[in-house]
Amino acid sequence: MQIKKAVFPVGGMGTRFLPATKAIPKEMLPVVDKPLIQYAVEEAYAAGIREMIFVTGRHKRAIEDHFDTAYELEAELAAANKNELLDLVNSIKPEDMNCIYVRQPKALGLGHAVMCAESLVGDDPFAVLLADDLMLGAEQTKGGPTVLQQMVQAYESQPGIVLAVQDVPKEDTKRYGVVDVRGADARQAEVFGMVEKPSPEKAPSTLAVAGRYILTPSVFQSVREQPRGAGGEIQLTDGIAALIGKEKVYAFRYDGKRYDCGSKEGFLQATVDLALANPELSTALRAHLATLG
Ligand code: G1P
Repeated sequence: MQIKKAVFPVGGMGTRFLPATKAIPKEMLPVVDKPLIQYAVEEAYAAGIREMIFVTGRHKRAIEDHFDTAYELEAELAAANKNELLDLVNSIKPEDMNCIYVRQPKALGLGHAVMCAESLVGDDPFAVLLADDLMLGAEQTKGGPTVLQQMVQAYESQPGIVLAVQDVPKEDTKRYGVVDVRGADARQAEVFGMVEKPSPEKAPSTLAVAGRYILTPSVFQSVREQPRGAGGEIQLTDGIAALIGKEKVYAFRYDGKRYDCGSKEGFLQATVDLALANPELSTALRAHLATLG
């Protein structure tokens, strides 16, 4: 079955980036010249997804505006014959892409956010992308697949729930959903257990879930049935964990790099790496970095 819809939970407060995120959603913070949310939407689009479902909250209007028509701006660019810029603005939302918005009335956790999209998702498998995690496929800049594209391919060859995973240092397990797998070295391994934010002593492995999922619609009911989990929140991890044994759940080691743009360090790394990969900026940035010693 084809993955046609993607859910973007974007209702979070972004307190780690205050004061920048007082009036601007954290997903609108730019890495080089593009907001985080646009990277995630482009990744989904490249994977063949055309229906983008945003689970938003109060103060998130800038996201809706970003994917909407900007009449004044477009009219002015057209009048000034700035066609390249006009194309750039128009390309944010391709004609065949549909954006749908639903509100998460309370910040009760990632599981709750995903549940808010239930009636829009319907009965088909779907993707979830956390825009905080900026993912770059290993060969993406040379036209290779994005991380979600790799996951969709994995799903098509072996249908089931697919979780993007990466190895993390043992002391960091408390920041992630962590999976228990057998055949630990395989690119795609079956998951036999999953825990949200375990302490290093309790973690079943050091394989952590990155912010990309392919889920089946049964996850909605499963999340609904779980008690509050880590941090007192309704956790997506707990809903997926409860499906193990009833459905196939796979951990997928993607080929690429993840930038944790929910942290300042990750955000800066993404900014530097993407600027260095940008032909217009790399020479000047390299020269500047060389002066730092
Ligand atoms: C969420 C998920 C966690 C996952 C992480 C990836 O946590 O709950 O399982 O490993 O995203 O970024 P959060 O970063 O929202 O605390």
